[in-house]
Amino acid sequence: MIKLHNLYFKPFISEQELDATVQRLVDEIVNDLQDVVPVFVGILNGSFMFVSDFVKKYPKPCEVTFIKLASYEGLKSTEDIHRLIGLTQDLSGRKVVILEDIIDSGNTLVEVHRIFENENVDELKIATLFYKPEAYKKDYKLHYVGMEIPNKFIVGYGLDYDGLGRHLPAVYQLKTRQHMTNLVLFGPPGAGKGTQANFLKEKYNLVHISTGDVFRFNIKNKTALGMLAKSFMDKGELVPDQVTIDMLNAEVEKNTGAKGFIFDGFPRTNAQAEALDELMNQKDSEINAMIALEVDDEVLVGRLLERGKTSGRKDDADESIIRNRITEYYKKTAILKEYYESQDKYFGVDGVGGIEDITERLNAVIDKL
Ligand code: IMP
Ligand code: MG
Repeated sequence: MIKLHNLYFKPFISEQELDATVQRLVDEIVNDLQDVVPVFVGILNGSFMFVSDFVKKYPKPCEVTFIKLASYEGLKSTEDIHRLIGLTQDLSGRKVVILEDIIDSGNTLVEVHRIFENENVDELKIATLFYKPEAYKKDYKLHYVGMEIPNKFIVGYGLDYDGLGRHLPAVYQLKTRQHMTNLVLFGPPGAGKGTQANFLKEKYNLVHISTGDVFRFNIKNKTALGMLAKSFMDKGELVPDQVTIDMLNAEVEKNTGAKGFIFDGFPRTNAQAEALDELMNQKDSEINAMIALEVDDEVLVGRLLERGKTSGRKDDADESIIRNRITEYYKKTAILKEYYESQDKYFGVDGVGGIEDITERLNAVIDKL
């Protein structure tokens, strides 16, 4: 992911894909022109990288020139096209191929045709690397199109957002949902996860998604997914990851305005972590951190035994059960710790001390994300 000015962009088209697309355009065009020496006219600024790569691949003699037009302000195309540098040579009788980086509304193309109106060229053809069919409002024919793309703002490979991003060798797409804080919260039983999740939720305006609660809610309310999950549980089988992911997806969808999510109780396996990444990716977002509250075993055992005295929870009363739960926790989370560590997203936070102190340690991690 990259940030330009105030906006975030995600990888969209790789260098390899660009290269293959430019090559394909070259092949199509040389095949049509054969031995005629064409004049390629690049539209500056956006097309400089495309034109450069294109003519390097062009296998036959050709001429290259540029005109410079400006229409875009920030993220929007305007009707008002400025002709900054016009044609500087006589092109009458020539075969001209316009090389555009991107055709969006088509306003620029109107100006291009106006420029060529009285030039008496033999033929004027339009080639564009990118084309946004949903945005195009004109009916000039586009003779060669590299890639049709959705009507979303892109940068890189010559294209900019307010001056930035042109130098990037690949293309990135604007993230429609802007920066969120999505956390995976871990902690052994007794680490104070619930308490801390409540503080984080308030402070950062996050939605706490506890997988256990989501399951209970869906089963209690007999939702389609709840019934599906229950059918597996009744057979004594594990609920397939996809069912859980679908339930989480529904929770995420319910909270479209959220500043982020705290996932609690999920993921538990590598496959689930990947599925969660995929879900976040579909939402134009990502998991920013796995935060694990770290508490020494002996402290945990002490805390849970203490809790057992008042809560009446049987699993909190027996020391060997408690120790077993703690061991299980470390066995299960070790894999996830590795998963997130390899992406530099693992943060261990000391969970021993006063509640407020621990909250502050968590805030310090999140504020840096
Ligand atoms: P049109 O005049 O609306 O067809 O837009 C053409 C010009 O707008 C291009 O040559 C670019 O300079 C700019 N443009 C259109 N869409 C994008 C985009 O997604 N990213 C960056 N620039 C764009
Ligand atoms: Mg342009």
